Amino acid sequence: MLSDQQLRQAADTYGTPLYTYDAQELDAALARVQAAFPGARIYYAMKANPNLTLLRRLYGAGVGFECVSLGELGRAAHIGASGDRVLVNGPAKSDEEYRLGGELGATFIVDRPGEVALLPPASSVLVRVNPALSVSTHDHLATGAAHSKFGVRPDQLPDLLAALASGGHRLRGLHLHIGSAIRDAADFRAAFGRVAELSRVTGPLEVLDVGGGWGLDADLGGIAAEARQAAAAFGAQLWVEPGRYLVARSGVLLTRVMGTKATGRDFTLLDAGMTELLRPMLYGAEHPVRALWEGAPGVSDLAGPACESGDLLGRDVTLPAGAQRGDLLAILEAGAYGAAMSSTYLTRPRPAEALWDGQTWTLIRQREPLEAIWAAEEAAG
Ligand code: LLP
Repeated sequence: MLSDQQLRQAADTYGTPLYTYDAQELDAALARVQAAFPGARIYYAMKANPNLTLLRRLYGAGVGFECVSLGELGRAAHIGASGDRVLVNGPAKSDEEYRLGGELGATFIVDRPGEVALLPPASSVLVRVNPALSVSTHDHLATGAAHSKFGVRPDQLPDLLAALASGGHRLRGLHLHIGSAIRDAADFRAAFGRVAELSRVTGPLEVLDVGGGWGLDADLGGIAAEARQAAAAFGAQLWVEPGRYLVARSGVLLTRVMGTKATGRDFTLLDAGMTELLRPMLYGAEHPVRALWEGAPGVSDLAGPACESGDLLGRDVTLPAGAQRGDLLAILEAGAYGAAMSSTYLTRPRPAEALWDGQTWTLIRQREPLEAIWAAEEAAG
């Protein structure tokens, strides 16, 4: 955990709103995953945070990438990732994604039978199965339910496997991912168990990829034990795709108090809001906060600068009373799906990002220049 002094230094140097990352915390999260899943291959779901500096650090530690867009594949290619460390995933892949994935020699995660005809020749393939389970998370974050758009139905597997074989593709294994921010190990047990039953259809396989989705306080050891058991049903190597778990805790969104006000409720007004951190508004996510000022405890809502009533980063948050303009607030567990989901709505520049390596701060993304936001409009003319 970075000290108040370190956070103040970053805010004074780079301005706010600012995303900061603690490299040691990132390394520690990776070490926890490696310890829980010994021998498994780790493909970081870069959607959680695609910053090139973080990608290079993870890649240097042996991690590969799960990519879901041309841009994410482009990032993997840009840092020189080798094809055996890249997965191409997504329910609606574009021609360019098939092409670049093929060029890289990546493994494709096939999400529907119709994809077989679209794959580059002699592709390496995992087939994503829909385990038809509802899980205990926000509905938008559940991906393994029967009504979700992801994966193939188990009854579609035999025909799909035959089509892959006759198309000259190499089936490496099965894939599943049941959702995100899942805390209850029973959800993973149920899903892995269902997929393990499919070994009767597939026979032995090289790989079982159980995706990610682990909540920050999930029991990794318990999930790993269930995953190993499922992989054993296929005689397969285990692959995992953590996103949030690797990067969330290393990240802090630093924001300054712009003032306070009372209407029907008490508000602490911040220079960060939905454009910097969308998760509270989109999923009702609650991020712990740490105030860098002192005072007797009070309760207020954290409001951003946008002209939308839903632009709140927290409700009924206990903070020291008496916040002054310029005081710093650290919004914690913001390293995953924070900067990654920031937007330029209201022509607000996406925030700067900085990394603490244990000794010094390094800027790893500039605050977006305003001219960059409208550059594509000028270029079109
Ligand atoms: N693998 C696949 C196929 C995925 O779709 C995802 C996340 C992951 C791995 C990584 O899941 P994680 O370990 O990060 O839970 N924007 C949302 C999260 C969306 C996750 C989408 N897929 C949020 O802010 O919570």
